[in-house]
Amino acid sequence: MFSRKHLLGLDGVAQEEIISILDTARSFREVLERPIKRLPTLQGKTVVNLFYEPSTRTRISFELAEKRLSADIVNFSASASSVKKGETLIDTVRNIEAMKIDMVVVRHSSPGAAHLLARVLNAHIINAGDGGHEHPTQALLDMFTIREKKGRLDQLTVALVGDISHSRVAMSNIYGLRTMGARVLVCGPSTLIPRHIEWLGVEVYHNIDEIIEQVDVMNILRLQLERQRRGLFPSLREYHNYFGITRERLERATRPILIMHPGPMNRGVEISSDVADSEHSVILEQVTNGLAVRMAILYLLAGGKSEIH
Ligand code: CP
Repeated sequence: MFSRKHLLGLDGVAQEEIISILDTARSFREVLERPIKRLPTLQGKTVVNLFYEPSTRTRISFELAEKRLSADIVNFSASASSVKKGETLIDTVRNIEAMKIDMVVVRHSSPGAAHLLARVLNAHIINAGDGGHEHPTQALLDMFTIREKKGRLDQLTVALVGDISHSRVAMSNIYGLRTMGARVLVCGPSTLIPRHIEWLGVEVYHNIDEIIEQVDVMNILRLQLERQRRGLFPSLREYHNYFGITRERLERATRPILIMHPGPMNRGVEISSDVADSEHSVILEQVTNGLAVRMAILYLLAGGKSEIH
């Protein structure tokens, strides 16, 4: 059962808590197929979406999830706020909380920003991505998608491919998938894989062609050019040649591999367009499932226990 006040990351979240979120999300996924998708679950609750970094999927998905659950919503964008006049994160959120809000969804470039808010606010905090640290709702929607497609998470081999060093999606996937019993491989150039990452229970590879025969799922990560210092690989063309997932590469596999990407994609760099749009790709299903997973998290954090009708 999931009975936490906040969702700050998946590090330390137990298997039964993850199962509870995924099972609840399955009920909400069914609600999303109905002609009327709105439920009264969060009526009277106010949720603030506090985005200090750009986002398409996560921001819109949270906003839609909150609307589907009948919450009152406030969207905060740092670029149109008094942050521009030098107001700190703490002062900003204390002022927002003074307006009697119940939940904060926060994305920030600083690792630990969500943890900081959880210490100073009474509201429920949901981490929507904090620097290169964690992105728990993305990993939960990734696990939901894998479980729906493969029927399980244990006894599967999942590869996280590409820029592991700068990826909060990778960290949350590693914590969640290991807790759920999956075998997790990371594959990329050594300059983009953190030293000692095997301490987290993952296997490290530097050759894509070596893992193709072993994996059930490939979660292909964006090259986070905005977070990287220069010189971590010679050129985008060379990166694509060595690590880009192409149809030619996938055709060497003897069984179909589920292709995932959290977005936004660099088409022609970490993934070729024909793979992104192929029959094995579930990239857009991940986005649909993300809505159900975020509804589940909002519902559970608000204390939801009853059947979802
Ligand atoms: N996957 C993800 O976090 O995408 P956005 O940056 O568009 O929210």
